[in-house]
Amino acid sequence: MKRRQFLKSSAVAGTVLAFSSANVWAKDADARIEVLLDEPLGEISPNIYGQFTEHIGGVIYDGVWVGEKSKITNQYGIRSQLVDMMKQIHVPIIRWPGGCFADSYDWKDGIGEASKRPRRTNFWEVDHDAIRLHDKGPQLFETNEFGTNEFIRFCKLTGAQPYLAANLRSLPALDFDHWVEYCNSPAGSTTLAEVRAAAGFPEPFNVRYWGIGNESWGCGGDFTPEDYASEFRRYSDWIPRYGIDLQLIGSGPNDNDIDWTHRFFQRIYSDRAYNNPSFTGWSVHHYASNLSRGKTKDWLAGKGDALQFDSVDWYELLRECDGMEQIIHDQWAVMGQYDTQHRVKLVVDEYGPWYREGTELDPTHIFGQQITLRDALATALTLDTFNRNPEKVSMAACAQLINNINALFMAHEDRFFATPNFHVFAMYAAHQGGQALRTEFSAPDVQYVRDDRPARFWGLNGSASRKNQDVTLTLVNPDLSKTMETQIALRGAAVASASGTVLAASDMHAHNTFDHPNAVMPTALAIAVGGGLLNVSIPAASVTKLEIVLR
Ligand code: AHR
Repeated sequence: MKRRQFLKSSAVAGTVLAFSSANVWAKDADARIEVLLDEPLGEISPNIYGQFTEHIGGVIYDGVWVGEKSKITNQYGIRSQLVDMMKQIHVPIIRWPGGCFADSYDWKDGIGEASKRPRRTNFWEVDHDAIRLHDKGPQLFETNEFGTNEFIRFCKLTGAQPYLAANLRSLPALDFDHWVEYCNSPAGSTTLAEVRAAAGFPEPFNVRYWGIGNESWGCGGDFTPEDYASEFRRYSDWIPRYGIDLQLIGSGPNDNDIDWTHRFFQRIYSDRAYNNPSFTGWSVHHYASNLSRGKTKDWLAGKGDALQFDSVDWYELLRECDGMEQIIHDQWAVMGQYDTQHRVKLVVDEYGPWYREGTELDPTHIFGQQITLRDALATALTLDTFNRNPEKVSMAACAQLINNINALFMAHEDRFFATPNFHVFAMYAAHQGGQALRTEFSAPDVQYVRDDRPARFWGLNGSASRKNQDVTLTLVNPDLSKTMETQIALRGAAVASASGTVLAASDMHAHNTFDHPNAVMPTALAIAVGGGLLNVSIPAASVTKLEIVLR
């Protein structure tokens, strides 16, 4: 691939730009973008920038939790470097304790004096990857050192809201009530509030977000949608509230499983209507995990490699991730047939590219994988998709925060680095709470050959949002060889200044490592003015953020 030159300057200040009929699109521009300032789509919920942490491999033990006695800098046992960097990207919510782990977890094991907490077999002991773990470490045999108190501490340190997943497969509904009671009952009111106070937390945690099981069609109980609907009623109705506006999230489909959603919603809304106003979220999981292009449906055989891939694999991975848009539209349409007011929104609480084992940084990191520039584009186009659908997607969580599938961070013992995904979240943070704006993209498709047949993928896409006079426009150029000479018009206002940031690299496999933690880093991108439009060269294989100030 051709080595790319980074442009140096980045800001156009004090220039007045207004899009009008007098502006003429340049004939030789590769791409045109029109941001329609008068067409807001809705507020982008900050919660779509959430993260997911599960007791699996190196996520909690080695990633988040190092222990209070560790030489690694920590706050109450939690890795300080991680906390500091999470604050930089304003992580709004953290989901915990799973994933599949959640439906095998007894929250009571994780409270009280740490040295007295029981050791249990971790859910992931069943996974074939766990065979690699010959020792008796916490990845296989859960020590419960990190429990509800520690997780809430982690949330408080990072400034995030907790999102807890209840165990619906292997604990009775009363245990869920008691977990809510432990977290939310007022100081001094219940025996569990006193247990919480004895651990140093007299004040309630006020946890609002609760998942009612996880993947209830699979590891969360192998239910039929109808059976899950019955369980959902039992677990979600009449739980203690303490005046808190609880938000309950149902376990939605795997990918775009329409049947699961139809049958669940039919049972909940049509048969004997369930009117719990706290049911506001329907979880969706979408992993780009089968990259075999239809050659196999086998879960393991279908996976691609995190580091060894060619240009076709690059486009195909992005295409798989881009399926999110269709999932959102299809699921929303089905839900609307029953929930006609659309009280229930989509909560995409697991997403990302998922590769075969082999690039994890330590054998204990089950599902650990390296994160390249390709994954940064996949993550960015997913976030753009959420931004473009603000009325449908209320919350999301990237799977998973550290040492796992689509991680933002990697850590082992005292070493730590941020992956390209972290930089995407840093660039996109400006969208949080903004008004999404309808934005039109016009760019030629990328054309390539897949299995001897011509294939196409879009050439440029993204999302825009506005907060007062500030407009944020984020863009993904998936083309591996073409710099997109792009013209941008803002319909309805004049521009005072603009600056750009780009995440790109000369090698599509580029990734950060312990030895080279800054191999993939954002740099400044120049923006020029011409004919009343913004002109910018969007490098091949890149993620771009433009910050535009309106007059
Ligand atoms: O993120 C890893 C696993 O993937 C989660 O535990 C589960 O919910 C999903 O299948």
